[in-house]
Amino acid sequence: MVKPQTIVATGGAGFIGSNWLNLMVPRHPECEFINVDCLTYAGNLESLEAISGLPNYHFERADIRDRVALTKVWKQYQPDSVVHFAAESHVDRSISGPTEFVETNVMGTLNLLELFRTETAESNRYRFHHISTDEVYGSLGETGMFTEETRYDPSSAYSASKAASDHLVRAYSRTYGLPVTITNCSNNYGPRQFPEKLMPLMILNALEGKPLPIYGKGENIRDWLYVEDHCEAIWLVFEKGASGETYNIGGNAERKNIDIVHAIIGAVAEATGMDNSKIEGQITYVKDRPGHDFRYAIDASKVRAELGWEPTESFESGLAKTVKWYLENPKWVDSVRSGEYRQWIDQNYAQR
Ligand code: NAD
Ligand code: TYD
Repeated sequence: MVKPQTIVATGGAGFIGSNWLNLMVPRHPECEFINVDCLTYAGNLESLEAISGLPNYHFERADIRDRVALTKVWKQYQPDSVVHFAAESHVDRSISGPTEFVETNVMGTLNLLELFRTETAESNRYRFHHISTDEVYGSLGETGMFTEETRYDPSSAYSASKAASDHLVRAYSRTYGLPVTITNCSNNYGPRQFPEKLMPLMILNALEGKPLPIYGKGENIRDWLYVEDHCEAIWLVFEKGASGETYNIGGNAERKNIDIVHAIIGAVAEATGMDNSKIEGQITYVKDRPGHDFRYAIDASKVRAELGWEPTESFESGLAKTVKWYLENPKWVDSVRSGEYRQWIDQNYAQR
């Protein structure tokens, strides 16, 4: 049976990509991993320090919008597979600047598909795996769950660009017969997440005595999954998923945003001995996000039944691990909190 050997992992310096590489590079010495990342504000090579010296890990700084740069990577490594994480990933940023989202998420994905179609020899092809989001399905009301058959109905430029990229991946499978798989996953949390997203923002602001900004009333619901459980699902689908298929991935851990923040405050107080009620006093209700999806919930029964995937962390154990990681990695936190990051925080929250 054909097995993956030389894998281009795009966006490997970001949150999910770096967690995936940290797990998979040491576990699969039979594979070469080429991390192709242009290092936007969200990419950080410090997230890869533990594996950067391993012989089967390579880093190439390249922009997926640049087909010439990608062609050079293909010529040098002749990959048989792509695991595609790279994207502009933050909904709030897509509201203030949608163009980059279309350029990277749509055109970047198209470039990778073209390289995979034209430069990867027929006999050498293993798999193009695309990492996507449950946000392509739009918003749920109080009941129901997203299945793989749910109609696409994206609300933000982020989710619309991810929806377009999913359609391109499927179109390349149907038109050119490329071996592709797609995973659509719920909200991830865990180590190495850039602190513009809810979980790390709240953890770090709680620790630093800063406001905890909740959009609207905090009643919106997300379905949370510990990042390593997502990473395991990605490998399983990449290696064993049926070509042309989509798999929804989710942790069955629906929470209102306000309850997430209470849980984070509890976990931070528990880990540090800080006063719980004092941190609760930092909660601040701010202007809601425009087009804010009310609820996401994933039905992950297909990946469970067909591939035997099960998450291993509960929401509580994953949260405790996450808080511990941010407490133990102040150097990483300082390095991502660059000038660009502070500028974004000032700009985003000044208007709310
Ligand atoms: P992230 O923003 O933390 O990281 C994105 C990475 O991609 C960064 O390293 C960045 O430098 C790189 N990148 C961005 N534009 C690039 C370009 N033009 N060329 C090369 N590299 C580029 O994102 P993440 O949270 O790790 O998400 C990874 C993938 O998973 C995305 O496709 C996202 O849509 C999807 N996803 C994320 C979540 C979540 O909760 N974070 C949930 C489901 C799906
Ligand atoms: P986020 O982490 O941005 O992920 P996504 O928008 O992809 O779901 O936000 C998660 C939820 O938390 C979302 O409903 C918006 C909300 N939120 C806040 O209430 N305050 C914040 O400061 C942020 C960043 C998000």
